[in-house]
Amino acid sequence: MQIITTKQALQQAVENCKKANQTIGLVPTMGALHEGHASLVRRAVEENDVCFVSVFVNPTQFNNKEDLAKYPRNIERDAELLRGIGAQYVFAPTPEEMYSAEEMNTTFSFDFNGLDAVMEGKMRPGHFNGVVQVVSRLFYLVQPDRAYFGEKDYQQLAIIHHMVERSSMAGTFGNLQIIGCPIVREESGLALSSRNERLSAEEKQTALGISKTLFASLEWAKEQGATVAAVQQRVIDAINAINGLEVEYYEIVDQTTLLPTDSFNHAIGCVTVYCGPVRLIDNIKY
Ligand code: PAF
Repeated sequence: MQIITTKQALQQAVENCKKANQTIGLVPTMGALHEGHASLVRRAVEENDVCFVSVFVNPTQFNNKEDLAKYPRNIERDAELLRGIGAQYVFAPTPEEMYSAEEMNTTFSFDFNGLDAVMEGKMRPGHFNGVVQVVSRLFYLVQPDRAYFGEKDYQQLAIIHHMVERSSMAGTFGNLQIIGCPIVREESGLALSSRNERLSAEEKQTALGISKTLFASLEWAKEQGATVAAVQQRVIDAINAINGLEVEYYEIVDQTTLLPTDSFNHAIGCVTVYCGPVRLIDNIKY
């Protein structure tokens, strides 16, 4: 496995793959890799001739400097995991290599057709602009045939789908396929997240209340006369009743448009919860 830190070396590696007619799978990550990322990389290795993984804590998608500073980083451990899975290339640039000073300080703006006006987009203004800025740059540099993203960040996945499908961009990324992969959970139900590393043992136990409540809500949705609004409120109340958890939002929306829905059909519930100082997200499909 080769670790690449410059755009030039990355483009050279990509050119070599293209010349050899090899298909390329890309897994964009911010490092602090866990079994959730590993599942994406395994799939990329299986489905493509060559697998590139980017490890880059993207400063432009953080609207909270403290969150950026505290984001866990461990490239040696990440590299070991990726080598074990069989990824061929890891792209781990510095922010200065990735962006010019101007790019770092200007807000990249993109038309999300309203997909960013709800949930994470509403709570973290500018976040998805930063995500699309880095992801589109990675697509441009790596020219992947397939790119893999976890469904835990469901709104991010919907936005990336939209970016790639948007008519004015059609053709920009060739026949790139965006592949969403299911959430990986601990046996306890807790959704794997790099942020879990910041939870104390006690907080981790408390955080189980999130997935437990989401799973229970699948049953609540089947109860006679259950409405989306009532289930949504019941989830919020149940999580807030757990000492140490505070819901930022829980919204049951349509899986494609991310707009509020009054039917459980094709619906997904997306939650963000503070567990102490750590902001955790999770979701459940009805
Ligand atoms: O999901 C993530 O880890 C990041 O948002 C991504 C897609 C790697 C872009 O920085």
